[in-house]
Amino acid sequence: MTNPGETNPAVEQLIARSHSLGADPRTTNYGGGNTSAKGVAVDPATGEPVDLLWVKGSGGDLGTLAPSGLAVLRLDRMRALTAVYPGVEGEDEMVAAFDYCLHGKGGAAPSIDTTMHGFVDAPHVDHLHPDAGLAIATAADGEELTRRIFGDKVLWVPWRRPGFQLGLDLAAIANDNPDVVGCILGGHGITAWGQTSDECEANSLWIIRTIDDYIAAHGKPAPFGGVRDGFTALPDAERRARALALAPTLRAIASQDRRMVGHFTDADVVLDFLASAKAPALAELGTSCPDHFLRTKVKPMLLDLPPSAPLEQTIARLHELHAAYRDDYAGYYQRNADDDSPAIRGADPLIILIPGVGMFSYGINSQTARVAGAFYTNTINVMRGAEALSTYAPVPEREKFRIEYWALEEAKLQRLPKPKPLAAKVALVTGGAGGIGSAIARRFAAEGACVVIADLDADKAVQVASEIGDADVALGLGCDVRDSAQVQAAVDAAVLAFGGLDIVVNNAGLAVSKPLLETAEEDWDAEHDVLAKGSFLVSRAAARVLIDQGLGGDIVYISSKNSVFAGPNNIAYSSAKADQSHQVRLLAAELGAHRIKVNGINPDAVVRDSGIFAGAWAANRAATYGVPEEELGAYYAQRSLLKREVLPEHVAAVAFVLCTDEFSHTTGLHVPVDSGVTGAFLR
Ligand SMILES: NC(=O)c1ccc[n+]([C@@H]2O[C@H](COP(=O)([O-])OP(=O)(O)OC[C@H]3O[C@@H](n4cnc5c(N)ncnc54)[C@H](O)[C@@H]3O)[C@@H](O)[C@H]2O)c1
Ligand SMILES: [Zn+2]
Repeated sequence: MTNPGETNPAVEQLIARSHSLGADPRTTNYGGGNTSAKGVAVDPATGEPVDLLWVKGSGGDLGTLAPSGLAVLRLDRMRALTAVYPGVEGEDEMVAAFDYCLHGKGGAAPSIDTTMHGFVDAPHVDHLHPDAGLAIATAADGEELTRRIFGDKVLWVPWRRPGFQLGLDLAAIANDNPDVVGCILGGHGITAWGQTSDECEANSLWIIRTIDDYIAAHGKPAPFGGVRDGFTALPDAERRARALALAPTLRAIASQDRRMVGHFTDADVVLDFLASAKAPALAELGTSCPDHFLRTKVKPMLLDLPPSAPLEQTIARLHELHAAYRDDYAGYYQRNADDDSPAIRGADPLIILIPGVGMFSYGINSQTARVAGAFYTNTINVMRGAEALSTYAPVPEREKFRIEYWALEEAKLQRLPKPKPLAAKVALVTGGAGGIGSAIARRFAAEGACVVIADLDADKAVQVASEIGDADVALGLGCDVRDSAQVQAAVDAAVLAFGGLDIVVNNAGLAVSKPLLETAEEDWDAEHDVLAKGSFLVSRAAARVLIDQGLGGDIVYISSKNSVFAGPNNIAYSSAKADQSHQVRLLAAELGAHRIKVNGINPDAVVRDSGIFAGAWAANRAATYGVPEEELGAYYAQRSLLKREVLPEHVAAVAFVLCTDEFSHTTGLHVPVDSGVTGAFLR
C-alpha cells in the first residue's frame, strides 16, 4: 500500500534523514525517538493543495523506517485540536482525536509524540534519546548545564510525561525563539528542528556532539569513582564459564512470574561499570529514559558479591536478592498505583548484573531481551555522562510509575497478539540440518521458539538457521553428538545465545541396512555411537540445565518404527533405535520429579528430504522389498493402514504438540507417525 504523498520530496528527505540518524546507536536508542516533516500535497478529494504532517508512527525503528511507518495528518485539523484540548488532566484523551486529523487512511498509528512535531512551526523536527542528551537531561543541574553549554541556542524544557502538553510546552519555546535550534527535555531526551531536512539533522547532531565535546573537556576523569577491589572482569574463559554456571539460576529468577528468554553481554562498557565503586548506588537509581521502563523495569538487580565468591554462595545470594527485588517491586507498585492502574505485571528483574561476568537481560522473546540489554547499556553511558559533569538524577519514582503503568501503554500491551504456544522457549535439535530435524526446527520457530540447529554438517546447520530467521530466532552450529565436549559446547551455545534451554530433540541419526552376517563391527558402532550414546550425551548435558532452571522441560527422541518392529536386515540400526526408546522410559522415570517430560516419536518411511534415504539405505530397502528405488515412498504408503505417505512435517507436528501444554501430563510415551503399521502397534 502506498502512503499518501509517498513520493513527496519532504517524505523522501524524512526517510533518508531517519535512516541516517537511526544508523548510529549514540543518536537514539533502538526503536526510540521520532522524526517528522511538513509539506504540501494535492488533496485527491478536492484537487486542492493541502498542508500535511508526516511523522514516524508508533512502533518501529528510525534506522529502518519505511514510508508505511509514517502517520500522515492534516496540519490544519491537527493544530485545531488545541481548541478542544481540555488541559493536561485530559491529555490522554487527545490521542483518540488524532484519528480525526488523518489524511486519507492516515498510514501508521500516530504516536504520543505527534503534537511535539505538529505544533512546532519549523518544517522538519527530530525527537531523539541520545546518550549524550540524556546525560544532561538526567543531570541534577541539567537546566544550568544546558545554559552553560548552549547559551541561548538550546533551551531546557522541564520534565513532564510525553503527551499533548509536552508538545505545547516545546512548541512555545520553538516558535517564540527564532534563534533556538533545539531543546533538552528534562529526564527524557532532545528535540531539534530546522527549515530544511539537512539543517534539522545538522542541529540534532550538533547538540549531541557539543555535549560529547563538553563532557570530554570538562568531565571528571573517572565518573564512576575508582575500581572496587575484586569486582573487575574475570579473564575470558573464566567469565564465560561463570556466565554458563549462573545462567540457569538467573533465568529461573527472571521467569518466576512468566517464562523469559535471555541475552548475555560482557561488553567492556558493562564490565567497567560493574567494577566501579559507584555501581551499587547508581544501579539503585534505575534506568534513564521513559522509553526504557517497560523493557528494563525501573531498576536492575545487581549481585553484591565479587566473582571470586564460591558458586554455591553466589547462587544462594542471588535467590535472596531476588526475593528482596520482588518485595521492592511490589512496594513500588503499591506506593504508586491507584484504583485505575493496570494490574502489576510481574515482579522479576529484566536486567541482572553480575560483576566480573556481565549483564543478563530478559524478555518475552530474544529480540526484546537483546534490546533490553541495549537499553541498559544506554543507561550506563547516560550515567557516565551525567556523573562526569554533575550527579545522575533520573525522574522520580512516581513519574517512572506513571510511564510504566500508563493506561496508553497498557492498551498497547493488551493489543499485542496472544503469545505463540512455544513463545519464550529455547529448543535444541540435533541432526537439525537433515530432513526431519530441519522440519522440526522450522515448526518450533513458527510456533514461537528460539531454535538451535546442531548438526555434524556445520555449514548446512548454519544454512538452515539462516533460512529460519536471524540471530534472534535461530542459531546453527556444528556438533558431533558422539563427542561429549562438542555436545556440551552446543548446549552452552544455546544457553549463551538465548539464556537457557527448554526443549531438546534427539534426532541426529544415520542408517545402515545389512543382514547380521554382513554387519561389521564398524556398522554396529556407527549406529550405537550416534543413536544410543549420542542421545545419552545430549540428554545428560541438557538435563543439567533443565534441572538447574527448575522450569520443567521436554526431551523428545526421534526413535523409529524399527525400535519395536523386527524388520528385515536391520540389526545395527534397529537395536540402537530400541536403545533410544528405552532411554525415553528410563529418563521419563528419572526426570519426572523435575517436571521434565521425556517422550518419543516412532516415524516410518519418511523418504522425502531424508539424507538417510538419499544414501545406500534407500537402495537396500528397495532391493529388500523388491521395488524400484523411486517408488519407495509410494510403496511404503501402500503398505500402511492409512495409505498415506509420511512427510517430515508430520513428524514435526507431533514433536511440536508433545512440547505444548496440551501434552502437559504425558511422559514416557511413544507416538507412531507411520500412517499405521500393525506390526509396530504399541502395547
Ligand atoms: N526418514 C525416516 O524414514 C525415518 C524413520 C524413522 C526414524 N528416523 C529417524 O529420524 C532421524 C532423522 O532422520 P532423517 O530421515 O531426517 O535423516 P537425515 O539424514 O536427513 O538427517 C539426519 C541428520 O543427522 C545428522 N547427523 C548424523 N550423524 C550425526 C552426528 N554424529 N552428530 C550430529 N548430527 C549427525 C546428519 O548430518 C543429518 O543432517 C534419525 O534419527 C532417523 O533414524 C527416520
Ligand atoms: Zn521520547
